[in-house]
Amino acid sequence: MEERRLGPVVGLGTWQTFAGDRGLAREVIGSALDAGVCVFDSSPMYGAAEASLGEALQGRRDGTFVATKIWTPRVDEGRRQYEAQRRFFGRVELEQVHNLVAWQEHLPWLEAEREAGRIDRIGVTHYSPGAFDELERALSTGRFDTVQVPLNPLERAAERRILPLAEERGIAVVVMEPFGGTGAPLLRRQPSAAELAPLREHGIETWAQAVLAWILADPRVDVVIPATSRPERARENAGAGELPTLPAEARAVVERLAS
Ligand SMILES: NC(=O)c1ccc[n+]([C@@H]2O[C@H](COP(=O)([O-])OP(=O)(O)OC[C@H]3O[C@@H](n4cnc5c(N)ncnc54)[C@H](OP(=O)(O)O)[C@@H]3O)[C@@H](O)[C@H]2O)c1
Repeated sequence: MEERRLGPVVGLGTWQTFAGDRGLAREVIGSALDAGVCVFDSSPMYGAAEASLGEALQGRRDGTFVATKIWTPRVDEGRRQYEAQRRFFGRVELEQVHNLVAWQEHLPWLEAEREAGRIDRIGVTHYSPGAFDELERALSTGRFDTVQVPLNPLERAAERRILPLAEERGIAVVVMEPFGGTGAPLLRRQPSAAELAPLREHGIETWAQAVLAWILADPRVDVVIPATSRPERARENAGAGELPTLPAEARAVVERLAS
């Protein structure tokens, strides 16, 4: 594995799934940890999610990788958000500029924190292909270690624009919205057992796992971060990270079933 690589692994997103319920967060995150998940993505934008994540990682922080974000146009407020992230026991493995907000302003102080060893990597995220021009400009500075974008069989804009640049520049890729975002539109139509049969020889048991395996089969992808409010689904999704790389013909089956 090259130095820049973080995966390929399945992590856990935390947007909108805990609704401030710390007990639920502890259950879901605990289930993910038990299933071997170590990457957790959060943001100050996600309400109480950061606080819930910090609490759930109490006593289990070793070996985990916290990816969180700075989300504000102001540097002083960004620093305040960063201070509050001490809840992750003194370090953040990946600090991302959320939705490109004031990325040029935040980069110098984030780089100083990385230099001081309190942040391992600096990343940038955006959910919309409409922002990919600016995302490309940001990545072309060579100052970001990671990029987070949506990618799934129905949302492939990143394959054409961001993934090639990430590969060329040695930037690790984190995939958000693997199921199409909140409400998981991609999982609404569940293929039948007969339709999933050709995928079983690759270890795939469920449609959610098929979608995650499709994403991780792109060699430019490092981490995929599905979110869930159900402990059993955290386990199910983690299972996709244990599978061998999906071959091209099986990927084509997933694309056909998703369309
Ligand atoms: N701009 C940004 O930086 C940005 C934007 C969007 C997302 N993100 C990050 O990416 C993460 C993932 O994206 P997302 O949360 O928007 O969407 P997502 O992961 O594509 O979908 C989440 C939805 O999928 C459902 N789900 C999860 N596992 C399932 C399974 N095995 N079977 C059936 N349904 C399942 C969940 O419902 P249940 O709760 O009922 O399981 C939830 O409604 C976020 O949590 C966040 O960390 C970042």
